Amino acid sequence: MPDSSELLALCKRRGFIWPSFEVYGGVAGMFDYGPLGCTLKNNIINVWRSIYKGEEKFVEIDSETISPRDVFKASGHIDGFSDLITYCQKCHTPFRADHLVEKFCKNPDKLSPGELEGLFAEHNVKCPECDGDLGQISEFNLMFKTSIGPGSIREGYLRPETAQGIFVNYLNLYRYNREKLPFGVIQIGKSYRNEIAPRQGMMRMREFNQMEAELFIDPEDKNWSKFKEIENEKLNLIPNTTLELTTITVGEAVERGVIANQVLAYFVYVTKRFLTTIGIDSDKLRFREHEKDEMAHYATDCWDAEVLLSYGWIEIVGIADRGCWDLSRHAKFSGQDMTYFRKYNSPKEVDITRIKAKNRAIGLKFKERAKDVMTEIESLKPENIKNGRITVSVGNETIELNEEFFEVILTKEKVTGDRIIPHVIEPSHGLDRILYSTLEHAYERDNEENRTILHFMPTVAPIKVGVFPLMEKDGLDKVAYKIYSDICSSGIEAYYDSSGTIGKRYARMDEIGTPWCITVDYETIEDKSNKETVTIRDRDTKEQKRIEIKSIKEILGRLLNNAKFASL
Ligand code: ATP
Ligand code: GLY
Repeated sequence: MPDSSELLALCKRRGFIWPSFEVYGGVAGMFDYGPLGCTLKNNIINVWRSIYKGEEKFVEIDSETISPRDVFKASGHIDGFSDLITYCQKCHTPFRADHLVEKFCKNPDKLSPGELEGLFAEHNVKCPECDGDLGQISEFNLMFKTSIGPGSIREGYLRPETAQGIFVNYLNLYRYNREKLPFGVIQIGKSYRNEIAPRQGMMRMREFNQMEAELFIDPEDKNWSKFKEIENEKLNLIPNTTLELTTITVGEAVERGVIANQVLAYFVYVTKRFLTTIGIDSDKLRFREHEKDEMAHYATDCWDAEVLLSYGWIEIVGIADRGCWDLSRHAKFSGQDMTYFRKYNSPKEVDITRIKAKNRAIGLKFKERAKDVMTEIESLKPENIKNGRITVSVGNETIELNEEFFEVILTKEKVTGDRIIPHVIEPSHGLDRILYSTLEHAYERDNEENRTILHFMPTVAPIKVGVFPLMEKDGLDKVAYKIYSDICSSGIEAYYDSSGTIGKRYARMDEIGTPWCITVDYETIEDKSNKETVTIRDRDTKEQKRIEIKSIKEILGRLLNNAKFASL
């Protein structure tokens, strides 16, 4: 396991990740991506997008990052998205209350303020900074608040998850998908959480990147057409019923009820496939189901993809069944109908109770307004009857009517379908945690050879190939530079390096995870057989081969498509 401070130092030195605003002393929980980090991030996004858009046929949107208050009132984030905070009474440092009792309790984030205060008293917990007394524990909402427009007329919030931008666009997306289920939507972008005490490097950031997928499905059909293709794949699972690690196939997991349904299980597997494709070690990857009292306010079930890092087991993806929480809430708060029309295979005859107007009594009482009153009465449902009376509005008048004017009847009617609120399955990926995990799982320190290697998968490696002239003279540099330019023009990231010994140049490329290096030497220019050749070297095996210049692009293409170096 690498030392995280050593790895972060490498990341800073080589231009992967920089603490933000460092010249002004920095701000906790904020990081910038340098040139290599930015390319690594984009490469990870490309793999994710190719799975969700390319293979799973989800559509992608890009919504606002600032939302009016109504959105987060409806979503439950205004009332329920908080951590428990306490301040030191002496030095006034804020702390996440649950973090201060981690030594005494296994899952402290589940505890109430009262339970935490009890533990503080029992273990005489003091301020870790100055040993001062800690104050009362209270809720701290994690959303950043702002105002939309001048003044403070319209309250706004920076989004704490990208998901709500998808839910508030549900009606547009439903129409775009020709009013059929299931359909999936992805969004990649920034989310913001005003974390109380960021720690563990990039694990807890205040501004971070999410890649979220929301799959809208019929609640009565959580089977999945592609399930058969993957049912024999293995997963490391910790269900909340046993809390024990079990390695079983996806098929067994659903059959034994370990994972609730096929869709959820399918996307747990897709998450595993994505993470291992970008270089996460499958032996250091497990899926842990949330315990009932650990679940987010919107979730009915949730599996976290956790990876083993130098910080311990860390959640990097959450795969939640959000049920109908979000759409029902937005329907209620916005007054919009967010149901989907589920058509039956053939029409059904069903018993329906209706309110029927008593035409004669209404005609006598309401005369020329009778037709309007009847229409209003018959638009009501039996549940609108209160103490034997109903209320209708006609023109500007509100009229209360007793059973002299209406009756409840039972009719048989043919219906072609019903309206339901779709359920949502959500694989939510924290891009920065994923990126950092690929760095840790790729890292190797070889003390004997005094060499550091990042064993990145070629697809995500920021630089695919280093190109060097053996010497910066005799035309070797011109040939090398031309090779480098040609590789770049073909869209493959390359790096030209002519300084220092070849050994040092290889070491620099190994340290940033470049899978291959090409060297132009005297044999390249002196070969009389009309074959201009160069050396290509493999990062992981250090094996070298001689290849022709004219086949470089084709060979790199093969290697990037997973061909073995030994097969060249
Ligand atoms: P944690 O319990 O670690 O705070 P969470 O349960 O709040 O995480 P989710 O709300 O499920 O996380 O967010 C989905 C994903 O977004 C997480 O799996 C994680 O990868 C990422 N994420 C959440 N909060 C942060 C953060 N502060 N910094 C970086 N990534 C984050
Ligand atoms: N969308 C899941 C989360 O960020 O909480």
